[in-house]
Amino acid sequence: MIEKKRGAAPRDDELDLEGRLTDTAYTPEDSAVENPLRPRTFGEYIGQDKVKENLQVYIEAAKSRRETLDHVLLYGPPGLGKTTLAGIVANELGVNLRITSGPAIEKPGDLAALLTNLSPGDVLFIDEVHRLPRVVEEILYPAMEDFALDIVTGKGQMAASYHLPLPRFTLVGATTRAGQLSTPLRDRFGVVLRLELYSPEELGKIVLRSAGILHAAIDSDAAVEIASRSRGTPRIANRLLKRVRDFAEVMSDGVITLNTARVALDRMEIDELGLDASDRNMLTAIIKHYGGGPVGLDTLAAAIGEESVTIEDVNEPYLMQIGFLARTPRGRVVTAAAYLHLGLPVPGRLRDEDDGQTRLVTEEG
Ligand code: ADE
Repeated sequence: MIEKKRGAAPRDDELDLEGRLTDTAYTPEDSAVENPLRPRTFGEYIGQDKVKENLQVYIEAAKSRRETLDHVLLYGPPGLGKTTLAGIVANELGVNLRITSGPAIEKPGDLAALLTNLSPGDVLFIDEVHRLPRVVEEILYPAMEDFALDIVTGKGQMAASYHLPLPRFTLVGATTRAGQLSTPLRDRFGVVLRLELYSPEELGKIVLRSAGILHAAIDSDAAVEIASRSRGTPRIANRLLKRVRDFAEVMSDGVITLNTARVALDRMEIDELGLDASDRNMLTAIIKHYGGGPVGLDTLAAAIGEESVTIEDVNEPYLMQIGFLARTPRGRVVTAAAYLHLGLPVPGRLRDEDDGQTRLVTEEG
């Protein structure tokens, strides 16, 4: 079962159906079962080359030794393909994939039910593994290490403890925040892999592949345009592709040209760099209310009415990657590049701090 989540800020009932197109939350159309856009093999999977190459080695070695693959921890911002990779791992190992999430496993009994129903070698995928309740985590340790469950039932004289052997399995844990995992849990993953935001070139290939699967005619420059506004995230690229296709069908003959893509993305208020209203609002708030920063995360979250985790998981990774935002020990600061992008005058203090290019031009010109 896959839970819906809104950015990293959780809870099904909080899902905003009018939410951001650039939100990285799951929607039913993204889910493993219904989504034909998900690659099923490493050959189909574009990008994350280092992660892919290493995983392929570990899988081949495990298969040749006829062992189960060691437990794998995947971490990185949402929407980069952690669930997809778990599916590929299971597929390449030739075993079943069972999908759940940290908050969905409320009690030790929930985990016991999942684990005792696995077949030998199966992959159990736990999304948001950092949100497992502590009592569940504690019975997960021996399950991961010794493939056994130690469960105590009842209290006092009625207490009984059970030692239940389990089939060997591979746990694939996914988290947006590896730092929030408890050390004992993190230490039990033999393979720890970090997913990075995708390059525009990789996203362009993903958009073309997805358009092919959706039977949508698209020009290659239109694919590049969608890719460059997808903030490094395939889930966003695929969602934007579907919405741009809607515009192409209603406004023209269904072919996604560069012009249709631009008009559609502008109408959705996603700018040339992929920033949406929420990103611009956040940068503007830091500039207008806090002189460009530094400002603390919680103060900023309260000022713009957003959850701190959403800012950290959804807005910040991309804004930092494109050099619009920096984290300092005293808080978040907006860079000169962000001022320029927003059409605001760059404060003198930031001009003096740049790499010397501006002064060189001023002095020589
Ligand atoms: N669709 C979503 N993510 C993808 C990826 N990494 N490669 C190919 N297609 C994708």
